[in-house]
Amino acid sequence: MKFFIDTANLKEIQEAHDLGVLDGVTTNPSLMAKEGISGHDNVMAHYKAICDIVDGDISAEVIAVDYEGIIREGEALAELHNNIVVKVPMIKDGVKAIKYFSDKGIRTNCTLIFSAGQALLAAKAGASYVSPFVGRLDDVGTDGLQLIQQIVQIYDNYGFQTEVLAASVRHVMHLLQCAEIGADVVTCPLNVITSLLNHPLTDSGLAKFLADHKKVNI
Ligand code: E4P
Repeated sequence: MKFFIDTANLKEIQEAHDLGVLDGVTTNPSLMAKEGISGHDNVMAHYKAICDIVDGDISAEVIAVDYEGIIREGEALAELHNNIVVKVPMIKDGVKAIKYFSDKGIRTNCTLIFSAGQALLAAKAGASYVSPFVGRLDDVGTDGLQLIQQIVQIYDNYGFQTEVLAASVRHVMHLLQCAEIGADVVTCPLNVITSLLNHPLTDSGLAKFLADHKKVNI
């Protein structure tokens, strides 16, 4: 299972990378805005900075919602670095653009997936990844993890190469359940990844080991 970090914050990306378990990065326009990144040149420079930290797939999202605009923005993003994956929203022109990118060998991440039908369509169009949003479905009283299960099953039935990238993963239980279901990737904030380190019995066990060692090594 691949671990992606869901942020545009360079410090957090560096910290996750330094832990040695990071496989990639996902961003979105909200995450870029949160870091105060605006203007075409700054946005492009920021993506390059992310690519300099992480040698893995980096999702960079288009802003355009029309076919020509998505193609124009996506081609410019893909030219930035080999590791850029063009993130395209699940809309009609987005699906058409994913097919175009797929035919040209440009990798894509179809985002804002909230149903199995959307995931099937994105896979048919040749998306490299689909991003179903687990947490946002939970927010509206729907079982986000059930959607991950459904998509994994459908892709397995037909051998689709599209990877299931569980997004909007908010806590450790989401992450672990995605792992049990067999999602190919999870993307989540840094604190979800570092939370995996924690267990009170590890802390108390280590404290006892060190105390016992100290007793005979004064
Ligand atoms: C997916 O790629 C999105 O960036 C992200 O996971 C959304 O998460 P949120 O619902 O916590 O904003």
